Amino acid sequence: SRNIYVHNSLFLSLYIFLAVALVSQTAARYTADWTSLDARPLPSWYDEAKVGIFVHWGVFSVPGFGSEWFWWHWQGQQPPDQKCVSYMSKNYPPGFSYPEFAPQFHAQFFNPEDWADIFKASGAKYVVLTAKHHEGFTNWASPNSWNWNSVDTGPHRDLVGDLGEAVRNRSLHYGLYNSLYEWFHPLYLVDKKNGFKTQQFVMSKLLPELYNMVVRYKPEVIWSDGDWEAPDTYWNSTEFLSWLYNDSPVKDTVVTNDRWGAGCACKHGGYYNCADKYTPGQLPKHKWEKCTSVDTLSWGYRRNIKMSELMDLPTIIEDLVLTVALGGNYLLNVGPTPDGMIPAVFEERLRGVGAWLKMNGEAIYTSKPWRVQTENTTVPVWYTSKGTTVYAIMTAKPPKLTLQLLGPKTSAATKVTLLGNPNPLSWAPVSPSAGLTVLLPELPYSPSQAWTLKLDGIQ
Ligand SMILES: *[C@@H]1O[C@H](CO)[C@@H](O)[C@H](O)[C@H]1NC(C)=O
Ligand SMILES: *[C@@H]1O[C@H](CO)[C@@H](O)[C@H](O)[C@H]1NC(C)=O
Ligand SMILES: *[C@@H]1O[C@H](CO)[C@@H](O)[C@H](O)[C@H]1NC(C)=O
Repeated sequence: SRNIYVHNSLFLSLYIFLAVALVSQTAARYTADWTSLDARPLPSWYDEAKVGIFVHWGVFSVPGFGSEWFWWHWQGQQPPDQKCVSYMSKNYPPGFSYPEFAPQFHAQFFNPEDWADIFKASGAKYVVLTAKHHEGFTNWASPNSWNWNSVDTGPHRDLVGDLGEAVRNRSLHYGLYNSLYEWFHPLYLVDKKNGFKTQQFVMSKLLPELYNMVVRYKPEVIWSDGDWEAPDTYWNSTEFLSWLYNDSPVKDTVVTNDRWGAGCACKHGGYYNCADKYTPGQLPKHKWEKCTSVDTLSWGYRRNIKMSELMDLPTIIEDLVLTVALGGNYLLNVGPTPDGMIPAVFEERLRGVGAWLKMNGEAIYTSKPWRVQTENTTVPVWYTSKGTTVYAIMTAKPPKLTLQLLGPKTSAATKVTLLGNPNPLSWAPVSPSAGLTVLLPELPYSPSQAWTLKLDGIQ
């Protein structure tokens, strides 16, 4: 009867109401605005990881000249870079176009297992690969990048997927770099000409591709870039991020950086990169990451690289240490060759980092910044901590057998050791209220030129 129907539908609406109330109580949903998105706590794995490897690989690796910005320097910027123009006119036939480099992106030696072994041996806990750089070439079969991707041309291979499998198999987190803008995409150029009042590129290329990439590869880092020409409203960044944090397959573990539109850097998003190779002068309030490159002149492979242009191992270790002491993560870049090799000199650097971390990683992984970040004694010292344990990392060999530290406040429970050496070290307070002088043992040989004192029972 009609009465029963009314009764039933009343129950049904009550039930739906309760169900909705329950869901909204258990899972707070992020809304598409920065106030809501910026309040999301960063998944804990990221701060604990501290060290990642960045990989710039794409068609730009084929010319391997200047940097991964080659196409822009050759044919985009006005006036063009004369070094790029003459490199092309001397070595390639007239009329040779940038897309003709793609068939020479062979990746014939690419063995993702070998790469992942090297990354694992570096001590890094995550790997970030360029899925798509500013040239627009996707290292996977993007349905929105017809004939300009690594499966239809060049390697004829799903580079993003193949590396991801090998990396994850070694219990490393896998992240993807994605450039929002594409220098020469015709629809991007239309939107740009319209002062970014139209969103043809964003709606028909960028967003479908980005959603597809996340669903397909489940990256745990989205390293966004190429955002600065247009506001975040043009890129639909807050709408994308609210989906990413609420409903995507990586909603609980994904982290993102801060490149989501002009003015976002150092202000909005997940952790902050601020600028490439940026290092803050003091401890920032917000989680950050320093990205830098073993090749000081480029992120992508260069065929004319010189040893003197590379960071040496002690420089890398010191940079890593000061970054972590200042609360940052360290993302160290290598540029593989178009053949799919990680140049041996980069491999050597990464294995060197890993050897240092094997001995000293206790002071790095899952550490927290301490009350004091650094002090100058006879050598630079950087501090990290875990509760009442404080690590004092010396990034040069002290000239004397004793080292004076003024930051730590000792107690009756204070114990001092050198990581890698089980014997407790003798020490004496500098004054009753602060500081200690440590009698150092003979320091073991370290190609990194960095050693860690572990101070237990410190205030
Ligand atoms: C890695 O691959 C091996 C061999 O296929 C498998 O036994 C192992 O469980 C994998 N490890 C992880 C962490 O996926
Ligand atoms: C982009 O943002 C606009 C304005 O907030 C919104 O109406 C639209 O649904 C969004 N589109 C996508 C694909 O995110
Ligand atoms: C340590 O010394 C260096 C070089 O002289 C200087 O740049 C730096 O500011 C000093 N740091 C502190 C904490 O005093």
